[in-house]
Amino acid sequence: MSIQIVKSIREMQDIAERFRCEGKIIAVVPTMGYLHQGHASLIKIARLHADVVITTIFVNPTQFAPNEDYKSYPRDLDHDKTVAIDAGADIIFFPDVSEMYSKEFSSIVEVEGASKILEGSFRPTHFQGVTTVVAKIFHITKPHIAVFGQKDAQQAFIVQKIVKDLNFGIKIIIAPIVREEDGLALSSRNIYLNDTDRKNALVLYRSLQYAAKRIQEGARNVTDIRIEMEKIIKGGNPSQIDYIAFVNPEIFKEVEIIEPPVVLVALAVRFGTTRLIDNLLIRLK
Ligand code: PAJ
Repeated sequence: MSIQIVKSIREMQDIAERFRCEGKIIAVVPTMGYLHQGHASLIKIARLHADVVITTIFVNPTQFAPNEDYKSYPRDLDHDKTVAIDAGADIIFFPDVSEMYSKEFSSIVEVEGASKILEGSFRPTHFQGVTTVVAKIFHITKPHIAVFGQKDAQQAFIVQKIVKDLNFGIKIIIAPIVREEDGLALSSRNIYLNDTDRKNALVLYRSLQYAAKRIQEGARNVTDIRIEMEKIIKGGNPSQIDYIAFVNPEIFKEVEIIEPPVVLVALAVRFGTTRLIDNLLIRLK
């Protein structure tokens, strides 16, 4: 089996335009590569909804701060081809940085409010990098549908926001988090973890499950739940807890008192130098 790899922006736009003229439904799954079964699940969902599935592989420099892991971010196109083919993708769009960002590049797409809290407060320029590249990917691949993962819950919210505010006319599907059997959320960054931190990182999902249990039992004040979650996470020897947040997912704002119908518990924690994020959507009974 093979897959079409498209590098040129113009060629990708021409191919997408042709499919549109033929009445084909196009779905896109944007990624930064080093594909795992989380990414594969997005491609499989896209496959169910479209005639043509494009996955994009682009480690986007503008969403990394200078002190972050842009240079060392894992890359493996051969492996990615295999995962993409197995999951059912038709095309990989794999552009060069120099073509995506010419020397004269100076436009940004920015969402106010939601992009400033949580991830945004620890990574101030991150979401403007994400929204700008996602807007470019949408204009290049011309999809009817795009699939994103709940793993990056804040990103999913913000992408939905630009699609609505800027009238992209694309249906966004948010896919559930794929986890290892022991509960660790799949992430391209998990390969940075040494054996000890890999085991210790299980405290993240354990703390989220604890929160779910407390909330289902009727707890509504986030302070007590957060204190107990912190204790659970500290048991895994993290180097830093960036945040443990309780969010109203409809408007992506933090809450102090949990209210029906649903709350998102989201966290970012560092083990050594590896920063992991995870979350759980909890529907109140
Ligand atoms: P990346 O981290 O490669 O993730 C690509 C997509 O896969 C995102 O929508 C992410 O939420 C989803 N994903 C990652 N791990 C997952 C898991 N365990 N289960 C389900 N889905 C998972 O997110 C990005 O790339 C970039 O910011 C991008 C949107 C491509 C813009 O550069």
